[in-house]
Amino acid sequence: MTRPAPDPAAPSAWSAPGRLRICPSILSADFARLAEAIATVEAAGADFIHVDVMDGQFVPNLTFGPIVVAGIRKMTRLPLDVHLMIVDPLRHLPAFADAGANHLIVHVEAVDDPAAAARAIRARGLKAGLSIKPRTPMERLLPALPDCDIALIMTVEPGAGGQAFLPGSPERIEAARRAVADRGLDCLVMVDGGIDPRTAPAAARAGADAFVAGHSIFHAADPAGAVHALRRAVAGA
Ligand code: DX5
Ligand code: ZN
Repeated sequence: MTRPAPDPAAPSAWSAPGRLRICPSILSADFARLAEAIATVEAAGADFIHVDVMDGQFVPNLTFGPIVVAGIRKMTRLPLDVHLMIVDPLRHLPAFADAGANHLIVHVEAVDDPAAAARAIRARGLKAGLSIKPRTPMERLLPALPDCDIALIMTVEPGAGGQAFLPGSPERIEAARRAVADRGLDCLVMVDGGIDPRTAPAAARAGADAFVAGHSIFHAADPAGAVHALRRAVAGA
């Protein structure tokens, strides 16, 4: 099913030119004070809370699963943007949906049919995201964009916070933005990895409109100030 082109003037448009989302990734937060960390970035105007789920198989690290997401759900009214770095992600779709995820992002490398995976997520009433690792050809993602609400371009190898933004990323962001624009899709182009006020402008100029940042927000002396600084950096790009 094709959807009509988004009307940028419509307040209900999910994506719209100039509407930029700041998405703090709690991976770098202090888990002993998680509720406080989330409240701080929420008050500073964050748009989504980005939640990284890792299984020790799709990526070497392990984080947490649906019961922790359900706990995080109680800490904020912001949409939970749940990034699944796990094998066989659709097996866990009902559990993450029940835990209160609003957006579920799965990796194109972890599913047989990315478009079908996105449709399955939408069928549960969630926003569907597809994420792509830095070395996977963009052709694995682009044909599935009509079924997606979020195209997540990894700008580091997934698996850990605090890595450097990969220099080849802007071309990949541009390819996603071009595909979204050419087809008039209502899909965010999200970037994740090494995003800070110094790297984010290049991502914004390449067409990103949602910016995940962990280390640069939660390891800052002033996380609220870091949210504001990131927003200023991308708004002025
Ligand atoms: C990496 C995760 C990211 C991570 C980003 O695998 O998907 O969301 O938290 O962290 P920073 O912003 O520190 O690169
Ligand atoms: Zn992530």
